[in-house]
Amino acid sequence: MKNNQHTIVSPPKLFNPPFQPSSLLSLILFFAFGLSFGILLTFQLKNVSFDFRFNEFSPSSTTANPTTQNLGLEHFIHPLKTNHNMSDEELIWRASMVPKVTKCPYKRTPKVAFMFLTRGPVLMSPLWEMFFKGYNGLFTIYVHSSDLSSNWTESEHSVFYGRRVPSKNVQWGKVNMIEAERRLLANALLDFSNQRFVLLSESCIPLFNFSSIYSYLINSNQSFVESYDLMGPVGRGRYSRRMHPTIKLHDWRKGSQWFEMDRYLALEVISDKTYFPVFQNYCNGSCYADEHYLPTFVTKKFAARNSRRTLTFVDWSKGGPHPARYTRNDVTLQFLEKLRSSNHCDYNGRKNQTCHLFARKFTPHALDRLLRLAPKVMHFNP
Ligand SMILES: *[C@@H]1O[C@H](CO)[C@@H](O)[C@H](O)[C@H]1NC(C)=O
Ligand SMILES: *[C@@H]1O[C@H](CO)[C@@H](O)[C@H](O)[C@H]1NC(C)=O
Ligand SMILES: *[C@@H]1O[C@H](CO)[C@@H](O)[C@H](O)[C@H]1NC(C)=O
Ligand SMILES: *[C@@H]1O[C@H](CO)[C@@H](O)[C@H](O)[C@H]1NC(C)=O
Ligand SMILES: *[C@@H]1O[C@H](CO)[C@@H](O)[C@H](O)[C@H]1NC(C)=O
Ligand SMILES: *[C@@H]1O[C@H](CO)[C@@H](O)[C@H](O)[C@H]1NC(C)=O
Repeated sequence: MKNNQHTIVSPPKLFNPPFQPSSLLSLILFFAFGLSFGILLTFQLKNVSFDFRFNEFSPSSTTANPTTQNLGLEHFIHPLKTNHNMSDEELIWRASMVPKVTKCPYKRTPKVAFMFLTRGPVLMSPLWEMFFKGYNGLFTIYVHSSDLSSNWTESEHSVFYGRRVPSKNVQWGKVNMIEAERRLLANALLDFSNQRFVLLSESCIPLFNFSSIYSYLINSNQSFVESYDLMGPVGRGRYSRRMHPTIKLHDWRKGSQWFEMDRYLALEVISDKTYFPVFQNYCNGSCYADEHYLPTFVTKKFAARNSRRTLTFVDWSKGGPHPARYTRNDVTLQFLEKLRSSNHCDYNGRKNQTCHLFARKFTPHALDRLLRLAPKVMHFNP
């Protein structure tokens, strides 16, 4: 008797005239093999793009078809589109991957990811258009727009064109705001060139030109997540004892939602499976996760990498739950100069005159004055 392995690979035996038990066995095995191969092939052709499989099976067909998917590096490191159908869980898993080989096999120009967390459109977009002009390749824009019913569109020539990421509903002060921030971070992390990540609102403006902001961020050896310990009802008063023991009262921090961070910290934030669930479960009601989650998490785990200050200026001096809004008459040369040279801050271990790179909240009425003053005061390319 021949062994099975031999009979499988020799089909001609099937046509031997007398039917012996061994050839019957080989017939059955051959059929089974053929059938499973057929099923497998059909399955693959159905689920995966036909072009892709076809190329894989026939090395001779190397004609460059621009629509053909390939496994090259370019697509992987520079995703061109922000649109995808990954669930949050899938997206975060995909974005959390870090190359084990640290040396980069291509020339990488670091980029800054500008992440806009908005309701509808980016209200100050004409100013941002002016800001970004001439700096292609050094930035990437992501817009998370929580107003899912709005169907605003940008012109094809806009830097915001096609930059919306798959978004979900966001309520002011609710934990789904952090979910949106994590979604923005994860989308931005998919681009390996993004090294710094700044969160902005629709009413934010830049206070310096692109080259100044880029160099400030790229050269900083710390992240900018504001964090302080505040006694009283709007500080420690928002802590819930149910967060114990993961988060203790003395771990509790407060700070502005508007952060800027490096890639290392961004990866840690989206991968946090310890502290974030505690906020999801127990930071509800009058807790305001957006003012506490990142300050608490970053201070507890990565305090040395954080400057504990925010780069986004805002005026709370008028009191109440919302900061001051700036409209047309507020925008003067002196006002902008004041915002630009606010205080003395630590930057890379040295005193620096620049504390804030961005400011909020500006209404669309302030736009034409800003556009007029920006080249003069903020040295934008006119
Ligand atoms: C995304 O689309 C693919 C097919 O295009 C589908 O198989 C998959 O289930 C979709 N994923 C989600 C999360 O909708
Ligand atoms: C989308 O925009 C068009 C034109 O601006 C408007 O007529 C329509 O009602 C909008 N649809 C929704 C769902 O907002
Ligand atoms: C502040 O930091 C910026 C960005 O690196 C730098 O260009 C500037 O010279 C610094 N200013 C001072 C006063 O050190
Ligand atoms: C917060 O959530 C917890 C658990 O889900 C619930 O028991 C509690 O009543 C909620 N508190 C508020 C103020 O909504
Ligand atoms: C940042 O740079 C300054 C000056 O070189 C140094 O003193 C400080 O320790 C650095 N911080 C970090 C987190 O690397
Ligand atoms: C950007 O602004 C700085 C002053 O903040 C100025 O020195 C520099 O020349 C400007 N850069 C460009 C490219 O205009």
